[in-house]
Amino acid sequence: MTPALFLDDITCTFVSKDDRSQRYTAVANTTLAIAPGEFVSVVGPTGCGKSTLLNVSAGLLQPSSGNVKIFGESLNGINARAGYMFQAEALMPWRSALHNVIAGLQYRGMDEAQAQELGKQWLARVGLKGFEDRYPHQLSGGMRKRVALAQTLVMDPDIILMDEPFSALDIQTRQLMENEVLELWNAKKKAVLFITHDLDEAIAMSDRVVVLSAGPATHPIGEFVIDLPRPRDVAEIRTHPRFVELHQQIWSVLRDEVLKGYQQQKTAT
Ligand SMILES: Nc1ncnc2c1ncn2[C@@H]1O[C@H](COP(=O)(O)OP(=O)(O)O)[C@@H](O)[C@H]1O
Ligand SMILES: [Mg+2]
Repeated sequence: MTPALFLDDITCTFVSKDDRSQRYTAVANTTLAIAPGEFVSVVGPTGCGKSTLLNVSAGLLQPSSGNVKIFGESLNGINARAGYMFQAEALMPWRSALHNVIAGLQYRGMDEAQAQELGKQWLARVGLKGFEDRYPHQLSGGMRKRVALAQTLVMDPDIILMDEPFSALDIQTRQLMENEVLELWNAKKKAVLFITHDLDEAIAMSDRVVVLSAGPATHPIGEFVIDLPRPRDVAEIRTHPRFVELHQQIWSVLRDEVLKGYQQQKTAT
């Protein structure tokens, strides 16, 4: 089957603008394929190159070498078949929740009434019925994330790219959101590339977990199929014996990389 997203031998070297001799290869020779409908998490230590890979998948960053294929076609420029959700807040403070959700639809030229109808449906689906007219500053952090989720999913993307979307939330809100994402994903089965530094979250959500090495020249060093039953409750699945087993297996690969990453952060600062 043609992958929804295929990163083929990707290398990303950043060159300093001030001193061209200063180069840093963040990602080296990374190959990763995500099938349509597959939920794949990429874990790795802070600063290893996770966001770099996501940005390459989104078409926001051109790799130094290698190819990106979207449903078999080479990606040039922005990936129009993908929706993104980043760690940072991406809502427009001057727009209401509803008008944030439908911004992309308006940009696409959808009829206003139709866009509003769809926007309301999506706000209801993420648990925000009745909050259509609230502005971002009138919503809690978790609610703002829900708006951002609706904003991404209303576009009905074939590929969903998420970069540590819930890391700023408290653990309870986070688990609620994770379950909501799984429920929505289960209904529509889109290809998901989920970036996280949290191994529990990666296992609980995914069909497959890919472990990246610490940088520089980050690349996959392990890949694990998560054969846990679905539907899952992310809080409950953590007590499943198979979860514990997978966690041990993956952590034994990830631990050394996290330590290396930590040492590098310490020497960098
Ligand atoms: N535009 C850039 N220019 C120079 N270095 C960068 C740039 N973007 C990322 N890096 C470096 O590449 C490495 C990987 O960054 P990133 O992908 O953001 O890591 P992660 O998301 O895993 O925390 C880091 O060392 C970071 O400093
Ligand atoms: Mg990052």
